[in-house]
Parts: sequence; structure tokens; C-alpha cells
Amino acid sequence: DALDVSDYLRRHIRTVPDWPAPGVQFRDITPLLQDPKVFRVLIDAFVHRYMDRRPDVVAGLDARGFILGSVVAYELGVGFVPIRKKGKLPFTTVEETYELEYGSATVELHTDAIKPGQRVLLIDDLIATGGTMMAGKKLLEKLGGTVIEGCAIVDLPELGGSQRLREGGLEVFTFVH
Ligand code: PRP
Ligand code: ADE
Repeated sequence: DALDVSDYLRRHIRTVPDWPAPGVQFRDITPLLQDPKVFRVLIDAFVHRYMDRRPDVVAGLDARGFILGSVVAYELGVGFVPIRKKGKLPFTTVEETYELEYGSATVELHTDAIKPGQRVLLIDDLIATGGTMMAGKKLLEKLGGTVIEGCAIVDLPELGGSQRLREGGLEVFTFVH
């Protein structure tokens, strides 16, 4: 069940202290991806959650959201669109700039990635401040999409991101706190 899944996933997330900066506890999902049984449990759990309210499109956030999002989209039988860091997408784009702890970042989405009225599932590996996922939501909405939920493996609730996203009108789902 859901508790078993979340516990199983949690045991395959590695914490790397002081990376990429002193004081940061980096939650590394590569051990989870590397184990085929755990990876399958994760993807099956995402697919199970969304198969009865299937989105029209899955949008993945650069870069780890691509790994998860493409497989989830494939299994749901829908298309995948990448939301990329600035300067990587070749066609015309919409862009959104957001604040990081130090400085800012810009993400982009192709203007033809979403058609007005499409229901979109937004996916990433982790929610920290929620800035990345909020920027993704705004881009999808600029093109007339509706984000049915923002999902990730991990939430870091002490950073307030998931709460901020919910206050901003986004449903949020994660397996592990
Ligand atoms: C990480 C993570 C999320 C984002 C979460 O990506 O994969 O995308 O940070 O942080 P936030 O909630 O505060 O926005 P990172 O910026 O490390 O980029 P990467 O995936 O390219 O390594
Ligand atoms: N992105 C932002 N904070 C993070 C953390 N602590 N672990 C992994 N990815 C992150």
C-alpha cells in the first residue's frame, strides 16, 4: 500500500551532506533509479495514481523530471513535453524567471507544447522551495493548459515549497517527506 511504497522509496534515497554547498543535505535519487525493482515500484505508483484521471500531456522539469516524466507519459499513453533551463530549446518559447536562494533562474517551454484546454501532469524529482514547479505551472498556464497536479518523489516540507504551491492553487503529491 501507499505507506509501504513511501517507506520502500525512502530507503533508496541517499543523503549526501554538504553538497553542493556546506549545510545542504542533498537527497539523491540515483540509487532508486539504479535498482530496477524500486524504479518499477515508483513508476507503477505514479501511473496507478493518474490512470483514472489521465492527463492529456505529462510535462517534466529539467533535468530529473525528464527521467521520471517520459516513462510515466509512455505508460499512461500520452505525450511528454520538456520544460528546460534557458537556452536549450530550439523553437519559439515562453519563459519564466524565478528567484533562487542566490540569484535567479529561467525556464522555457516551446509555444506549441500545449494546446489551450489540455490537462497537464507536472513532474519533478523533488520540491524544495517550490520555485521550479511554480515556474513550470505558470508556463503551462501561459499556453492555456490546466495543471491537474504537481508531483514529485520527495518533498522537503521545512522549506515550505509544497505549502506555497498549494496556496498558489496547485494540487501537490509526493511519496516521501
Ligand atoms: C533540483 C530539483 C528540482 C529543484 C527543486 O533541480 O531536481 O528541479 O531543484 O528546487 P526548488 O523547489 O527550490 O525549485 P536543480 O536545480 O538541482 O537542477 P538539475 O535537475 O538540473 O540538477
Ligand atoms: N534541490 C534543492 N534542494 C535539494 C536537496 N536538498 N536535495 C536534492 N535536490 C535539491
